[in-house]
Amino acid sequence: MSRSYPQVTTLTSSAPQAQSKIKILEKLPELEPPEEDESESFKFPDPEKISPPLLQLDEVTFGYSPEKTILKGVNINVDLDSRIAVIGPNGAGKSTLIKLLTGAIQATIGRSTINSRCRIAYFTQHHIDQLDSTVSPVAFLQAKFPGKVEQDYRSHLGAFGITGLTGLQKIGTLSGGQKSRVAFAVLSMQRPHILLLDEVSADRSDSLQCYADD
Ligand SMILES: Nc1ncnc2c1ncn2[C@@H]1O[C@H](COP(=O)(O)OP(=O)(O)OP(=O)(O)O)[C@@H](O)[C@H]1O
Ligand SMILES: [Mg+2]
Repeated sequence: MSRSYPQVTTLTSSAPQAQSKIKILEKLPELEPPEEDESESFKFPDPEKISPPLLQLDEVTFGYSPEKTILKGVNINVDLDSRIAVIGPNGAGKSTLIKLLTGAIQATIGRSTINSRCRIAYFTQHHIDQLDSTVSPVAFLQAKFPGKVEQDYRSHLGAFGITGLTGLQKIGTLSGGQKSRVAFAVLSMQRPHILLLDEVSADRSDSLQCYADD
């Protein structure tokens, strides 16, 4: 008993603290469980089949300067049925890898190959920012891909959730999520074989599930 005594004193002396903690907890508002994130499925139009490989990196090493190598000995094959997620900390070289795949930058050592028939849709926040905010989504599509009737643009946007009057209001007045949808609709017009998403937060409100295969 005498050995457990110090523990008992500790407990009794902390009791008022525990009571005050309970009081604090009782005053907190009741928490609701978080709502399930809304999820959305987009179906990109099917591109024609082309022979593999679509994009290939073969023993690629890259650095923006000779002193600092960012990627070393990378081998990647991207085919029509490839699904690849690139995960790594900030500054690890994820965007650099994507730029190497698209041919935007060239390997320092090694070889990168891009199938000349391959159409790549490259989606970043930058592309959302480049939408013309002064025109409507329908007018934007019409200017970029002329030659169709207005109904075609409207139904194409409709497949990405831009329906009715939303397709006719200025892009600048749309929500961030709606702008992302317009950007996806623009990308899908070229029937890409490959969809590259770099840090797509989907404006934090929608989770996007995309298909750009066969
Ligand atoms: N144009 C450039 N010139 C010189 N250095 C660059 C250039 N672009 C990126 N870097 C450097 O290369 C490294 C990799 O950058 P990268 O943008 O590929 O990283 P990331 O993995 O995409 O990071 P994040 O998660 O922050 O987007 C970083 O150290 C970055 O500072
Ligand atoms: Mg990046």
